[in-house]
Amino acid sequence: MGLEIVSADGLYLTDASGKKYMDLISGIGVSVLGHQHPAVVDAVKQQAGQYMHTLPYGEFVLSPQVEYAKLLTDQLDKTLNSVYFVNSGAEATEGAIKLARRYTGRPNVISCYQAYHGSTTGAMALNSDVFFTQAYRPFMPGVKHIRLNEVPDLDKIDENTAAVIIEPVQAERGVYAADPQYLAKLRQRTKEKGALLIFDEIQTGFGRTGKLFAYQKYNVVPDIMLIAKGMGGGMPIGAFISDREIMQHFTRNPVLGHLTTFGGHPVNCAAAHATLETLLESGLMDRVAEKEKLLQSKLVHPRIKELRTAGLWAAIEVESPAVMHAVISKCLNRGMIMDWFLFNEKSLRLAPPLTITMEELEAVCDDILHVMNGEL
Ligand SMILES: Cc1ncc(COP(=O)(O)O)c(C=O)c1O
Repeated sequence: MGLEIVSADGLYLTDASGKKYMDLISGIGVSVLGHQHPAVVDAVKQQAGQYMHTLPYGEFVLSPQVEYAKLLTDQLDKTLNSVYFVNSGAEATEGAIKLARRYTGRPNVISCYQAYHGSTTGAMALNSDVFFTQAYRPFMPGVKHIRLNEVPDLDKIDENTAAVIIEPVQAERGVYAADPQYLAKLRQRTKEKGALLIFDEIQTGFGRTGKLFAYQKYNVVPDIMLIAKGMGGGMPIGAFISDREIMQHFTRNPVLGHLTTFGGHPVNCAAAHATLETLLESGLMDRVAEKEKLLQSKLVHPRIKELRTAGLWAAIEVESPAVMHAVISKCLNRGMIMDWFLFNEKSLRLAPPLTITMEELEAVCDDILHVMNGEL
């Protein structure tokens, strides 16, 4: 897009010429509270003034990590009680692959077609897309793929499967949600075969679908959950979370199962704590359902071939990639930042901060329809 951003505030980004843009993709799923939320900025300033990096690897007790892990796990099912902080979503994926292999003693990992779990080599090995990955092969062996919502594919889960990794709502495929019955069957099959179930909640987490985490909507509890993106309110942090009984396998024989110098940086944990506290206290997640309904009722147009939503998150499918790119570019001219998806050439991404008001959202929908009415 080539925009030079000089400042950000709530829904808005301002470029060097003074033009304001609405960030309708939240910096790709990050700014759930909008940009520069005062609670997050204050937490960062306060922690930066106290201490930043000290010593990693759990050598010191760092209260920003401990207090945040407590608040976070208090919101989760009781088997998700142990948090390993990392720097990013991709690192959370790497940690989870390692933990699952180590815990089960098995080699294979199963992921979904058209899933994105990160850009490091382990995470990339899970990616079924040849176009994006072939230049980096060969990857770690033992990866198989299944189709989302296709129960017969679950037969691929067997005694050699360490884990199945899945997004409750496939993000980069263009917002495709898992069927509740399918997820329940997946949970049952992994249990039967002794494989771990990993949910990647890196895009679905932190209120995007209306609950803090999407698994809480489905009532299917994974063995490991991955989080990042919205977690830090704009600061870089991720985590993989599991039961202590599983996580402790990293601790001995050999020690140091996963090492990360900056993972769980105190300033980023303070930002994450403020983000979570604000999400929980603000009632923002309770208002996601009415915003989703607004999207569904407003985004009706002959050019829209399909609308898939999952909370305050939409894939607006149009007739061709050319139309999609034309809409994005015209919206940008009108001060609206939209985007596309990695594995979907015809859908526009809409994922604004949860702080967007009903009036703002209605105006955004009207503006998108206005663009679609014009020549594309
Ligand atoms: C579902 C999902 N998993 C993992 C990742 C990787 O996260 P990161 O870019 O922080 O490494 C992403 C990033 O887009 C994602 O959308």
